[in-house]
Amino acid sequence: MRRERAQTVLNLFHEHLSVLPTRDHQLHRQRRSVLSRFFSQQNVRRLAPVINDTLAHLFDRMEGWATTGKPFSLNAAYRAATKDIIQDYALGEGTKCLDMEDCNAAFFETLNSERLTHVTGHFHWFTVAMTKLPPKVIVALSPHIVAFMNFINDLTAKIEEIRSSKDDAEGRTIFHEILRSDIPTEEKSTPRLVDEAMVLAIAGADTTANTLVALTYHVLSTPSIFARLRKELESVMPYPDQPPDPKALDQLPFLNALIEETLRLYPSATHRQDRVAPDDDLIFQYPAGRRLTIPAGTMVGMTAPIVNRHTAWYANPDVFDPDRYLNDPKLMRRHLTFSKGMRQCLGMNLAYQELQTFTAGMFRKYSVFDGTLQQQKGPTLELFETGIEDVKTYADYVTPGLRPGSQGVRIRVRHPE
Ligand code: HEM
Repeated sequence: MRRERAQTVLNLFHEHLSVLPTRDHQLHRQRRSVLSRFFSQQNVRRLAPVINDTLAHLFDRMEGWATTGKPFSLNAAYRAATKDIIQDYALGEGTKCLDMEDCNAAFFETLNSERLTHVTGHFHWFTVAMTKLPPKVIVALSPHIVAFMNFINDLTAKIEEIRSSKDDAEGRTIFHEILRSDIPTEEKSTPRLVDEAMVLAIAGADTTANTLVALTYHVLSTPSIFARLRKELESVMPYPDQPPDPKALDQLPFLNALIEETLRLYPSATHRQDRVAPDDDLIFQYPAGRRLTIPAGTMVGMTAPIVNRHTAWYANPDVFDPDRYLNDPKLMRRHLTFSKGMRQCLGMNLAYQELQTFTAGMFRKYSVFDGTLQQQKGPTLELFETGIEDVKTYADYVTPGLRPGSQGVRIRVRHPE
């Protein structure tokens, strides 16, 4: 007999409701439990040297762009940096996006292609059919896909390399540990592990990068935000080039409120998050008393860009206002940006640490260009032909799509003469 449960639809995401049939649901749980310990707070803390080194690498690139005087794409730079971090953690040393002239922009353009995400998102059979075609045919149908196929080939080679060196005590990556673990042999097959590595690399890069882009835009376009942030950062980072200490950054209220507000207003996973209660009817209770029954087995979907602007939770929801968290700390981590429940983002701790470290490092080192370079002591950043329309979510390509023609956020680095 069907049971009824009184729910607000939001509670669906806090509960253990699945989008998968029971058998797949168990498989998901098993696979998730293998990965989840790598993303615990404690293990992510150990990644501080990798995150700090990547930030230093990004600064090297920025200093190079400073000498040319040309503006550069912040979207491409942050995507490269975040992909380098997760790839290092998951698979170890390899080609770094930050070493590539264009920061591997072609790869990310393929990922964010509107056609690719819309078709594969809605017609799963099409994706499966595509993977069965010979590579030459796939490339003829969609030339952009070459960058993605190269990515898969590189992952395959890397997994094979790790497999052959898995007993080497030096090997400390996620995939060394998975290959050494006692999970069933079929779970260690190369195609399976390549799929897993692909999810980690994609989920772990573009998302955090998009958040950093939006946050940097708001700091550079609002002097009062920069002034408050810099003051707070100076209290724990006396020297501009000092690598940030994650524990110290946890204690900075304004930094963390700024991050939280960016996550809320610019969720970097924009797709519909589907859930289903297979055995129970769900009862949606309207505030005025009316009830709506959602029959068991019905797919229910919600998207963070809508939920995160709900007036029941946030006053003036369209306004970028970090102070809302300082005035009401209960609002922290309420948003749906990382989803909730058993499908909640696995890399959330890593994302927060990257957001804290990059924001702190960037704005302790660089000031906002105020047009009077001679009087500014250190290096500065200036937005180049960038407005809020280059940051706002225009479309859903699983990650946020920019308005047609937008080049995203571009900035220029300057040094005092
Ligand atoms: C600001 C940054 C990030 C945002 C906004 C974000 C958002 C999300 C969301 C909304 C989901 C659930 C998707 C769904 O239910 O359909 C998800 C899942 C996931 N995320 Fe993230 N993510 C971020 C960063 C990361 C990072 C750094 C990693 C590191 C590898 C990561 C790895 C994953 C994985 C593996 C899943 C699948 C979890 C599962 O199905 O059990 N994410 N993420």
